[in-house]
Amino acid sequence: MQKLEIKGGRKISGTIIISGSKNATLPILASTILANKKVTIKNIPLVKDVLTMAELLSTMGSIVRFDKKKKKIEIINKKSLKTFAPYHLLKTMRAGVLVLGPLLAKYRIAKVSLPGGCAIGSRPINFHLDALKKMGAKIKIKDGYIFASAKKGLKGCTIKFPKISVGATENILIAACFAKGETKLKNCASEPEINDLIIFLKKLGCKIKKIGKRNINILGIKELKSITHNVIFDRIEAGTYIIAAALTKGKLKIKNINPKIMLTEINLLKKMGVNIIIKKNYIIVSRSKKLKSINISTQPYPGFPTDLQAQIMVLMTKAEGVSTIKEGIFENRFMHVSELRRMGAQIEIKGNKAKIFGKSKLNGAELMATDLRASVCLVLAGLTSFNKTVVNRIYHLDRGYENLEYKLSNCGAQIKRLQ
Ligand code: UD1
Repeated sequence: MQKLEIKGGRKISGTIIISGSKNATLPILASTILANKKVTIKNIPLVKDVLTMAELLSTMGSIVRFDKKKKKIEIINKKSLKTFAPYHLLKTMRAGVLVLGPLLAKYRIAKVSLPGGCAIGSRPINFHLDALKKMGAKIKIKDGYIFASAKKGLKGCTIKFPKISVGATENILIAACFAKGETKLKNCASEPEINDLIIFLKKLGCKIKKIGKRNINILGIKELKSITHNVIFDRIEAGTYIIAAALTKGKLKIKNINPKIMLTEINLLKKMGVNIIIKKNYIIVSRSKKLKSINISTQPYPGFPTDLQAQIMVLMTKAEGVSTIKEGIFENRFMHVSELRRMGAQIEIKGNKAKIFGKSKLNGAELMATDLRASVCLVLAGLTSFNKTVVNRIYHLDRGYENLEYKLSNCGAQIKRLQ
């Protein structure tokens, strides 16, 4: 099993180009099930989850031409697709369940594996299923699979999500594009990746109107156009590298981003004492001052992202005083804490709250990654510790970070992949 070896204490300085967003690419790829003319998607991040979603589409019968050099995927659906999404492709990637909505909307039937378990919480999909039922679907769960059918097709209706959910908003938004009549979605997630999905679907010809921040109206249609789309940048990857520069007191230019959509994170890091110069499509990060402690709570967008919680915790171990984090999205997202403690961090956990005592000296250690963002937080901790750190189980990291060791070593880090 591959691992990463990091020799800490080097500044991360230079330029990093941010890749396309994984969390935008996955729903966009799932929504191509609706298309019957050629769709071209550019700025695709070369990460494992995206390869898995591309494999899922081609297993179902889509012609998927993946030009990895150009980071471009062309998809053509010449014939009817198979409406079956097998367990072996969904067990590692929860977003695979996003094919359920489009399959059901277009083919009126689907058999989709329940996505695999996840370290950060139970992560149910009841909002997805309840909404599809309201749109007329019959759903049964048997042998680990969702059996869904809508003999007369899905019908538009009003759906208010009980809690803000990124995946449920995406699944139902895509399904509603091919439902009969109008669907009104209320209490939707408003993450930039959902906005990118809406831009993509509207280019295809879908009739979607955002009303205020959390409501979306969709009028069902039947035919889609051939289009090209550039996926939005990955704001979590960008945030991770801001923290890498701040931790190591480097000077880093982070390119190919739109800073306007990550102002919550940028302003919070500035409050901690990180210098960030904001330009139209890049930022420059440096740190001269001492870091101040801060209290944060993870929230749906535009709040502080849960996907950056583990990374900012590492920065907090270096601040003056005590910082706190309230994890407001997932019930079990502090899996990285025990490994950080083994490096010397002082962190107390009570339920969904963490207290991080600053000015800790981190020592390198052999560590075990537990999920995607936890693994990158251990890499960050390794960059700032004095001796060697080895991060095991980096298949988690490969699900969502493109060329991490290449991007970091180009900027001065001593990091290498071991077989
Ligand atoms: C997406 C992101 C993930 C991010 C998360 C929160 C992708 C591929 N993944 O995950 O990186 O951490 O948003 O920003 O975009 N919930 C239910 N029932 C449901 C659906 C969700 O109870 O049917 C709960 C979840 O357990 C969680 C909360 O709602 O507590 C939010 O989850 P959700 O926004 O759906 O996360 P994902 O879409 O899975």
